[in-house]
Amino acid sequence: MTGPETVVEVDGTVVAVPEGASLLAAVRAAGIELPSLCSDDRLSPAGSCRTCLVRADGRVAAACVTPAAPGARVETATDDLRRLRRDAVEVIVSALPSRALTTGNRSELARVCRSLDIGQEAARGAGGRGGDDSHPYVHLDRDLCIACGRCVRMCAEVQGTFALTLVGRGADTQVAPGTGGPWAESDCVACGGCVDTCPTGAIAEPGPGRGLTSAHRPSATRTTCGYCGVGCALDVVTRDGEVTAVLPARDGPVNQGHACVKGRFAHGYLTSPERLTRPLLRRDGRLEPASWDQAIGEVARGLRAAVAAGGPDAVAAISSARATNEENYLVQKFMRVVVGTNNVDNCSRLCHSPSAAGLTASFGLSGGTDTFDDVERSDCLLVVGANPVEAHPVVGARLLRRVLHGAGLVVADPRAVGLALHADVHLRPRPGTNVALFHGLAHVLLAEDLIDEEFLRERATGLTELAALLDDYPPDRVADITGVPATDLVAAARLYGRARRPAILYGLGVTEHLHGTDGVRSLANLAILRGAVGTDRGHGVMPLRGQNNVQGASDMGALPDVLPGYGRVTDPAVRSRAEAVWGVPVPERPGLRIPGMFAAARAGELRALWVIGEDVCATDPDANQVTRALDTCPLVICDELFLSETARHADIVLPAASWLEKDGTFVNFDRRFQRVRPAVPPPGGTRADFAIVHAVASAMGTALGCATPAEALAECGRVAPVFAGLTHGRLDREGAVPWPCPDPGRPGEAKLYEERFATADGRAHLAAPPYLPPGEQPDDDYPLLLVTGRRWAHYNSGSMTRRGGNLTLDPVDFLDLHPGDALRYAVDDGVPVTVESRHGRARLIARISEQTAPGQVFCAIHFPGSGVNRLTSHHADTVTSCPEYKVTAVRVSGQPRRGTTATGQWE
Ligand code: FES
Repeated sequence: MTGPETVVEVDGTVVAVPEGASLLAAVRAAGIELPSLCSDDRLSPAGSCRTCLVRADGRVAAACVTPAAPGARVETATDDLRRLRRDAVEVIVSALPSRALTTGNRSELARVCRSLDIGQEAARGAGGRGGDDSHPYVHLDRDLCIACGRCVRMCAEVQGTFALTLVGRGADTQVAPGTGGPWAESDCVACGGCVDTCPTGAIAEPGPGRGLTSAHRPSATRTTCGYCGVGCALDVVTRDGEVTAVLPARDGPVNQGHACVKGRFAHGYLTSPERLTRPLLRRDGRLEPASWDQAIGEVARGLRAAVAAGGPDAVAAISSARATNEENYLVQKFMRVVVGTNNVDNCSRLCHSPSAAGLTASFGLSGGTDTFDDVERSDCLLVVGANPVEAHPVVGARLLRRVLHGAGLVVADPRAVGLALHADVHLRPRPGTNVALFHGLAHVLLAEDLIDEEFLRERATGLTELAALLDDYPPDRVADITGVPATDLVAAARLYGRARRPAILYGLGVTEHLHGTDGVRSLANLAILRGAVGTDRGHGVMPLRGQNNVQGASDMGALPDVLPGYGRVTDPAVRSRAEAVWGVPVPERPGLRIPGMFAAARAGELRALWVIGEDVCATDPDANQVTRALDTCPLVICDELFLSETARHADIVLPAASWLEKDGTFVNFDRRFQRVRPAVPPPGGTRADFAIVHAVASAMGTALGCATPAEALAECGRVAPVFAGLTHGRLDREGAVPWPCPDPGRPGEAKLYEERFATADGRAHLAAPPYLPPGEQPDDDYPLLLVTGRRWAHYNSGSMTRRGGNLTLDPVDFLDLHPGDALRYAVDDGVPVTVESRHGRARLIARISEQTAPGQVFCAIHFPGSGVNRLTSHHADTVTSCPEYKVTAVRVSGQPRRGTTATGQWE
């Protein structure tokens, strides 16, 4: 325990609890369980059920709402207290129908009744209030509601959605969606918080997971979520080799007992009949089933032939931000050791490669500077180009919680994303103008002396150059470039500049631009100017990672220019350290990036491409050109769960295991290594990528060593000293450990740069890139700007979330457009529209919304069938080749309703 304590005596036992803790916490610290039907540690106390009565210094009190006073003497076990608590529970139970206490009922209430010897006959309610089973994941049985309000508080205080309320009066009080209609049409985002806290089963997950909660679960497998990069710890309950329920871990270091609709519920894809369970080989133009021996043999033969024909650099691999660290380590080792090329990349190229380049240049390391826990200590959050409420819901909820507790909030995003509704200032820059916006904020910080001069003098470089550049970015000029009113810009800069401990969080709205790396660097400037990085005067700069292991895939060296731990392949000392471990020379020349791989394939220079767990035909920009590259490349190998668009264009398809079936580790967005454990066995016929890579290496005559994922991580630590302190055993003991972690006996560094920055001179580097316009601008032919992104119920290409209840929650691929634009282009709400860019065409359903700014349209990336990535351009960050997904000039035209299916999708 850290911080001040309060010491009390509970039934003769002396216990210490944190200052301000309740008597209920003290009683529990003494190892005594009390009924507490309206209480949940994650929530503010309500004190409404009176089931937790104790006597404190002679007075009977509800333990959950009574603070533990120093020296208090607490009694829990006297006959009168037992009787009072039992009476309170009996009163509650008497209003419920008998099914509330059926034998084997797993609810908290049923367990409390069993402990108090209250039988089913005590439940004498008539029932008849009915239920609501409109939602795929959350069912309501009104008869079982005891109006404890836990679900309402969970939705408001933890999730920040405020979708639920209590309605009715007296004994008729019950929970209901705040919108009044069916649950499925409410504001519920299916985080599962209400299901998890409900003590009676009134709100429950349908199916075999019914009644399971994180507080009272049967034995489960602890793993790390394989959806976004938040890194939620999950407990997976299984029966007969199938997942029964996925519960948020109360002690999860990031999620703290919370989850979202994806991690919590979207596991139906595991048993989808569309799951690939046999390798496929292309014969006579068709993909046909084959044995693993045949498939691995063909892969080995094909790769050998490609090397023989074009040399090692005629082979390339796209590793996977969905795969484990150990798999990524093995893939890059395979390419460098077995094939002899640095042609390996991963999808961070398409999302956060500008973060890696920008943060490394500014601070020295490729990763967020602080831990997300610092959000709880921050008094001002600057959230830029991110929609965490939808894309990283658990982070979004924690941010919102902090704001509701008083932190200032500046949101910079062209769209009115969820957090913007709670912002003190919402800046809505035109897409592609970030660098000017950040320079405008920096201009105000300098002009109003909101900078940390001592920090700049002692720990930073580049102020003179930046100050000279910022002369050209006064608020009025920035307003002209960005469309952000100068008064808003000044207000935002003052909020950030005057905060005691500000923090910056950002997403792909900063990186996926023609000048994405400049964006990252000019955003990092703000933290440096303010002395808010590497000090206790702020919480730095944190990129919100999109995929579960996009940080780890890069950390492991699945990149063409760096080895594990980010040592450059061009550095002889870095190569020789790897060569000492691997026993072979490491190629010196940096390899191809993903766009370069496709270009080389189209040019006939790439003879084999291995795509691991990425649907590049769906997710990469200018998708028509990607497809052409795959069709041109003589050998395309694809590891996949389903027959994705990329798999359809492959010559060899290898059925892979998913994250719930694997052993290894992921690294989340704030650099924490966490264990991934197989909760269920992979379906017969599938293999983990780890085993596939080993098998191919073996077939090519090379033993890669590190036979297990644990051995692979240990070996990685010998190649990259920053990971040397990390092992599976340590993670099993400690849960989460951040890197850098060079020493097994010391904690990893959650907060970076407290002594010095990791740059060559130990200083933070201010950058002075001028604002340059994006690759595309609206014109008469293409008058609107398209921004792509994510929606709350789906994930990436949707291959997992479209196979289950999430599709019911969000079945339609919408194009959001402003009412004014809808009027201007004669588009009605709900009608199909054609969207055209200079690169391709897509068809979506129009949704008129003021969330999108005038002159802009927005669509998600989750429905590849709509062809969204046929619209996006070839423009890419000039430093890292990260595509400019966030700025594409388009035009829209309405279409007649006929030709659509019942869900509005085009036939
Ligand atoms: Fe204390 Fe309900 S748990 S009053």
